[in-house]
Amino acid sequence: MTTDATSGLALPVVDEALAERLRQRLDDVENALAYHVRGSADFITEAAGHLMAAGGKRFRPLLVLLAAETGPDAADDKVVTAACVVELTHLASLYHDDVMDEAALRRGADSANARWDNHVAILTGDFLFSKSSLLTADLGADAVRIQAQTFTQLVEGQMLETIKPAPGQDPLEHYLQVVAGKTGSLIATSARYGAMFGGASDEVVSALTAYGELVGSAFQLSDDILDVASDSAESGKTPGTDLREGVPTLPVLMAQASTDPADARLIELLSSDLSDDALHAETLGLLRKHPAMEQARDYVKGQAADAKAMLGVLPEGPVRAALEAFADVVAVRSA
Ligand code: FPP
Ligand code: MG
Repeated sequence: MTTDATSGLALPVVDEALAERLRQRLDDVENALAYHVRGSADFITEAAGHLMAAGGKRFRPLLVLLAAETGPDAADDKVVTAACVVELTHLASLYHDDVMDEAALRRGADSANARWDNHVAILTGDFLFSKSSLLTADLGADAVRIQAQTFTQLVEGQMLETIKPAPGQDPLEHYLQVVAGKTGSLIATSARYGAMFGGASDEVVSALTAYGELVGSAFQLSDDILDVASDSAESGKTPGTDLREGVPTLPVLMAQASTDPADARLIELLSSDLSDDALHAETLGLLRKHPAMEQARDYVKGQAADAKAMLGVLPEGPVRAALEAFADVVAVRSA
């Protein structure tokens, strides 16, 4: 679905004028980010710029910029600032996440914990979060409150992932709660900030926040499917990390629900310690071929359709079409 208008953007935007505005503002965001990750010593700047320089799709800033197009003030400087706030928060969380996951690769490069060590990675995450908070102060008290609430949700989601479902709680419900917290929250805030600082009505801000929550969860569900399905060359990460860590994700939960005797070996493996390389490889192989993968993909497409249904408050036109395309891209992403 790539067209000339989309080059440089992580989503298809058919309207050339809109695509050009988004590209220009993403350049502004990129320049501002490079400025904001500077520290008082070269090493701090290097560590803080490491994952940013390694790549990334800039999905969250793009969503801020696109959501801002629903209001009259899309060109306001605060929109670019808000885009930096969400990307810096995201980057901060990746440094911490890779420590928790003991991940070696991120965005096709060494993770910060692998390149340096856990101390550097944790402190760099803290540094980036401090920069994000400083910038949020320029956006006013409401934005600071939203940022703090989002941080709470991110951390709660991440912590819930480390514990089992509550007694009697459906594992899928627990998992969806984790996903909504650790990823849905910041993507919802991206859409919300965009609409707010773009000057959209309260009705549109609410609709875009709900859209962002759904798209954000779909984004993480796709990521979890990719963790099983893709190889490092596609994803820039080590495949099967969730399996190795014993974190049950959508395809795993769906495979575990199978009562087919042919799945007995896979189900046995899924409840064993997969830090062993041979068992891990066997599990990954069986899961990749299992119908649960398709079932999981269908679930994500349903979530993207629910997200698009939230856009009914917007007039038909290029902005709404781009937001719809954004939901579709998230649901079928391959990287
Ligand atoms: C990736 O999950 C992790 C997140 C999206 C959120 C992580 C949140 C924290 C570490 C809380 C601390 C936050 C800040 C701002 C300092 P994943 O491991 O499933 O995805 P991956 O495949 O990208 O590693
Ligand atoms: Mg991770």
